Parts: sequence; structure tokens; C-alpha cells
Amino acid sequence: MDFFPFISSETWFLLISFISIFVLYGHWTYGVFEKLGVRGPKPLMYWGTVGRHNQVYYLDDYECAKKYGRIWGLYELRRPMLAVMDPEMLKIILVKECFTYFTNRRNFRLNGDLYDAVNVAEDDQWRRIRNQVTPSFTSGHIKEMFNIMQHHSHKMAAGLQSKEDNNEVITIKDIFGPYSMDVMVSCVFSVDLDSINEPSNPFITHASKLFRFPVPLFLFQGFFPFFLPLLKFLGVSLFPKSSTAFFRTVVEKIRAERNASSRKNVADILQYFINYQTKNLTKVMQNQGLNDHEILSQVTMLIFAGYETSATTLTFLAYTLARNPEVMKHLQQEIDSTFPEKGPIRYESLIQMGYLSSVVDECLRLYPPAARLERMAKGTVKIKGITIPKDMIVMIPVYALHRDPELWPNPEEFKPERFSKENKQSINPYTYLPFGIGPRNCLGMRFALVMIKLALVKVLQNYSFLVCDETEIPLRMHPEGLMGPLQPIKLKLQKRSLNSADVDD
Ligand code: HEM
Repeated sequence: MDFFPFISSETWFLLISFISIFVLYGHWTYGVFEKLGVRGPKPLMYWGTVGRHNQVYYLDDYECAKKYGRIWGLYELRRPMLAVMDPEMLKIILVKECFTYFTNRRNFRLNGDLYDAVNVAEDDQWRRIRNQVTPSFTSGHIKEMFNIMQHHSHKMAAGLQSKEDNNEVITIKDIFGPYSMDVMVSCVFSVDLDSINEPSNPFITHASKLFRFPVPLFLFQGFFPFFLPLLKFLGVSLFPKSSTAFFRTVVEKIRAERNASSRKNVADILQYFINYQTKNLTKVMQNQGLNDHEILSQVTMLIFAGYETSATTLTFLAYTLARNPEVMKHLQQEIDSTFPEKGPIRYESLIQMGYLSSVVDECLRLYPPAARLERMAKGTVKIKGITIPKDMIVMIPVYALHRDPELWPNPEEFKPERFSKENKQSINPYTYLPFGIGPRNCLGMRFALVMIKLALVKVLQNYSFLVCDETEIPLRMHPEGLMGPLQPIKLKLQKRSLNSADVDD
């Protein structure tokens, strides 16, 4: 019987071929983990295992870890990824074989103007750039930049006064976001933004957009990766062009002003790169410095890399402290005894504060802004009996690792003592990775910790964080980008009297 007499047999043939190819293509990559003997959630055509247990990717990892253990296979759309949270394997991947097999992260090749930023660059180019950027974050240089951080911490504390006076409910990121941005921009290229008093500043809006990749583009490249060269040729970028262009224009302007003036003794990171470059141009090994384009890319990337991560950490710190008032009180006692009578915060004393350090470490365990790390296998390699094929993405589910109950008893509890001086020694470094580890770890870790601790001490010298009706408990998390809450975290501030003995009872 011919149900559709108006459709010719050729058309039927084409239609059936098209549907078959469509279905086959949608399943093509899904046999990999069965062949490797690695368990994992069952993928759906084209969609893979995305959001199988939870829409939020790191909560999904957490569920997978409960179900499959410390190694599993997942599919981000059609792309296979091996999730690894076995500490022994992590040591091999992130440290021992970093330069041989696991030097690079996944590269979408759609990096627009930021193709040579240190976090994106690969192999020898990455090594050279990283070697140039690292010295600008020595303890000596961070100490020099501490004055700048202090200046912004004073401004932030002054801005809080009016909010406390009015008993306002505060969106915490509105305090720490501008602080982080002001510190980053001042330390990187000496611009005093004053975002605290001007929160809708374009620096903040553009930097916030950078970690949120456009979803349609992300899906398209995931479904049809063979179009990537064409997209690259057309200049398509996962980093919003308007945002990278904004920073590029600012940096170019500053560079031009520096070249025209005699202001060469500025202690910011941009000037550090320029000095190094100029010094080396006269030498034979010119390729040791950064070229003009590389300088612009590093400066832009450092602001992006430092702003959102630090602001998010401070926001989660305020939230966890408000929910754990006894920890906050203990911390305020340490602050008051280290800097009596709300005295000036000194660098050496700040970095030696033991309880402060434990509080920050524990908060980064519960809320690591980078909830996943990634490395791409450059060649096929066997680790602990598991074959990792060439070009396979190895994904390290940091959030799930930090909440593994065998590694962290009662993982949901906020217990800074886990990181006390005595207990810290028994922590396996491959079970705690808020900044990654190994040669490709976070370049700004020490800088970030100083800037975060300073802001926290400055606020807690004068105020306590309070949970209020508007505080969401438990938090719903944002499904995209870096780890963060779905809705902005809201708290109240309570003014403290002179020392911790009188307060908070
Ligand atoms: C709390 C704040 C921060 C957190 C939690 C954080 C976390 C991380 C993580 C997890 C990585 C990837 C590490 C890996 O793959 O092993 C990373 C890379 C990086 N971070 Fe941070 N970061 C923070 C602040 C900063 C700051 C303030 C800067 C700059 C001033 C910075 C600059 C970088 C750079 C340049 C990379 C790429 C390094 C490379 O590819 O060689 N980060 N960060």
C-alpha cells in the first residue's frame, strides 16, 4: 500500500538515508567508555550525559561520584570526557606527566583576540608566557601591591557605613565585586576606578560576561565540531567580542600614554611586562620577552581571571560566616588580637593568621569557584590500568572531590579545624584543589589569598555578617560558568563595638 503516493522512491531513499545518518552521527562517539571499561551515565542522542542527574554541572558530578566512584565517563554533548578524582591518578596527570601528556586544557580554538593569553596558550608558547608572567607574582611584588589593596579596602569599609546605618539588606557581591575589580585594575595597570561608588562601571559588566559562554554557540560547536575551523575563520569567539574589545582599547590607551610620558617607574604588572620586553629587545634572545599582542592579552586575562574568582570567594565567605556565627566570632577574636583596637592591617601579620587561613581554605573546599579542572591528553597513555586515548579530555570534578565523604568526613559541614596547622599536614594535596596543582596551577593564588584575607579582615574588624529573611538557605546554584549562586546572596551587617569581648553575645 502506498500511503504517500506524492513522495517518489528517490525522495524516500534520501529521507531514510538522512534520518539514518542523523541518528548514527548523534550516537557516533558514545561507545568509547564501554570499550575502555569505564562506567558512567548512559548518553542521549546528541545531548550526551549533560544534566543527567542535575542541571548544575558540578552537582551532577557529585551525583555521578556517588554512583560510579572516583572515575567515570561522561559525554558533554557528543564529546567524551573522563572524570578523574582518584588522588594517585591526579598526581600523575597534573604533576608528573604535565609536560609530556597533559600540558594543555581543552582548546575550543574560538578564543578571538585572547588566543595567546596564558590560560589558553599551549605547549612551548604557554611555557614561555607563563615564565614571563610568573615573576610578577613573587611575594616581594605582592607585598609592594599590598598598599594598593589597602587603599581599596578602606574605600570598601567606608562604603559599608551608610548601608549599616540604614539597616539595609545587602547584596554581598555588590561590595566584594567592586573591591575585587578595583584591586585588579589598580594592580594590573594603575587605574583607580572607584567601582565601589560606581557599581555599574563597564569594567564590571564586561568582566562578568567573560566566563559565561554564549549557550547557542556552545551547543553548535558541541554538535558539529567540524564547523570549528569555519567559525574560527569567520572570527567567531566564545569570549564576547565587545568585552575583549573594551579591555583591549583601555590597555592600548594606557600603553600609549605611558610611551608618551616619562611615567616609567610605576609598580604595576603592565609596567613590569613592558620593562621586561624593552630590556630584552636589545638582547639576542628577543623571543624571551612578551610581544605587544601578548602583553595586551595577559593583562586582559589577569583581570578576568582574578576578578570573578576572588569576588565569588569573598561572597561565599560572608555567607558561610553568617551561617556559622561561632566561627565568625572565633575569627574576630583572632583579628582583634592580631590588630588591637581595629589597628592598621599589616601584611606580615595578615599572612601569618592561622585561623583566618583555615576559614578561607575551608570555604574554598565547600565552594571552589573553579568547580572543574581540565587537561587534554596529547597522546594515548595508560595510567593505573586505565587507557586515556589521545585527545580525550580529562575532567577533574573539584567540587565532588572536595565533598567526597571518605576524604572529608561530614563533607557538608563548615569546619575550619580541618585546615588547622596540625590537621593540615595529614591532608593529601591531591584531594584539595581550589587553585589546581602542578606547573599549570593558578598563577595568582598567593595574590588572591592576600587580597581576599585583607578584605575579610577589614570588614570583620568593624562588622558581623547576619543572615536575614532575604538570605536563601539552602542556596540554589547557577548552572553556568564559574561556581556561584543562582540568586545574589543577601545578608545584613551588624556594627561591632571596639573589641570582640563586648560583642556578638
Ligand atoms: C580565589 C581566587 C582564585 C581561584 C579560586 C582561582 C582558581 C584557579 C584555578 C582552579 C585555575 C586552574 C588551575 C589548573 O588548571 O590546575 C586557575 C588558573 C589561573 N589563574 Fe586563578 N584563581 C583565583 C584567582 C586568580 C587571580 C587573582 C589571578 C591573577 C591575578 C589568577 C590568575 C590565573 C591564571 C593566569 C590562570 C591560568 C594559569 C595557566 O594556565 O598557566 N587567578 N585559577
